[in-house]
Amino acid sequence: MKTEIIKIDTSVPGWDKQLDDAAQCLKSGGLVAFPTETVYGLGANALDEKAVEKIYLAKGRPADNPLIVHVADTQVIGRLTSNVPEAAPMLMDAFWPGPLTLVMPKSTLVPSIITGGLDTVGIRMPSNPIALTLIKKAGISVAAPSANSSGRPSPTLAKHVIEDLSGKVDFIIDGGSTRVGVESTVLDITVNPPMILRPGGVTIEQLHKLITGIRADKSLSSAHLENSVPRSPGMKYRHYSPNATLLLVQGPPELVASEIGRRAELYNNEGSLVGILSTEETAALYDSSLYAYCKILSLGSRKEPESLAANLFRCLREFDEKGVDIILAEAPDISGIGQAVMNRLVKASGGNIINL
Ligand code: TXA
Ligand code: MG
Repeated sequence: MKTEIIKIDTSVPGWDKQLDDAAQCLKSGGLVAFPTETVYGLGANALDEKAVEKIYLAKGRPADNPLIVHVADTQVIGRLTSNVPEAAPMLMDAFWPGPLTLVMPKSTLVPSIITGGLDTVGIRMPSNPIALTLIKKAGISVAAPSANSSGRPSPTLAKHVIEDLSGKVDFIIDGGSTRVGVESTVLDITVNPPMILRPGGVTIEQLHKLITGIRADKSLSSAHLENSVPRSPGMKYRHYSPNATLLLVQGPPELVASEIGRRAELYNNEGSLVGILSTEETAALYDSSLYAYCKILSLGSRKEPESLAANLFRCLREFDEKGVDIILAEAPDISGIGQAVMNRLVKASGGNIINL
């Protein structure tokens, strides 16, 4: 299949016309990868089973992992759900368009191939103008997982989508780097109080301001990761993974940096190429002699967890490009969006975690 790549700059008037062919293709059953504010998504017409099937094939995704349905106006929610939970209007008002997916009871209109056989459906309205315009132009609801091959880190640049899906999809819309960098928060509002199934772009602190008692699925924390069944099917897979083995080191930053430095030297001596995922605050703690043998990337500032989120998946992919065998990653603080960053790192580590 030939993949057409369309580069869009939304500061150039008339950019929306560049989406016409891709919107038509989406509507008639094709696959279109597009930027959202979180990560790039791989879209298909949500109510067309054949089209949705193609998503699973292109990504190599397990069939029991449900897809999020993307909408451009709230009117369609009534048709996609069998009833709208009480908390929904308030949450939509506060966070849509934006990185919050609401899990609601599905209507019969939603094919079970989208929901992995569950009787609920996850719905969100993205805020990226390219995503919103594409969905509006196509005039349909769009099922879209992250546009990576299953198991790989999610794409935050069109280049990542091209690496994973070129030749497997009809269009890739290049809208530059995504702003948030980690996926949406998945919130189950079929239960009371609602439960976070995947931490993401909207933080638990933001949700608490609106609804008291919101809980997070226990299986999301590292201590429980290995021996419980998550309520969000996607959370059970080893995920967000670079090719390299990732070891996550948690504790006070100075101790973490010295342990990572020690191990980097050790693994170097054993012949492994080591990648160090550091932060601005700790970069200076690494012995400069390490730099000759290790690839060191800074995720961002610990004081700005948003910067850690924005760079995470790009850094993991960069280590792969450099042919790194083992990544030693500093664990971030889990306040704000740091919780989502931590969750993705824990998943990428496959439980390979050192607590200091
Ligand atoms: O930010 C995002 O959410 C991105 C962009 C493209 O919108 N999409 C995304 O989709 O991350 P995906 O397919 O990579 O992850 C969807 C997650 C999975 O963990 C899945 O299990 C969960 O949402 N999910 C979807 N529908 C669900 C449902 N009905 N019940 C429970 N979990 C659900
Ligand atoms: Mg994904």
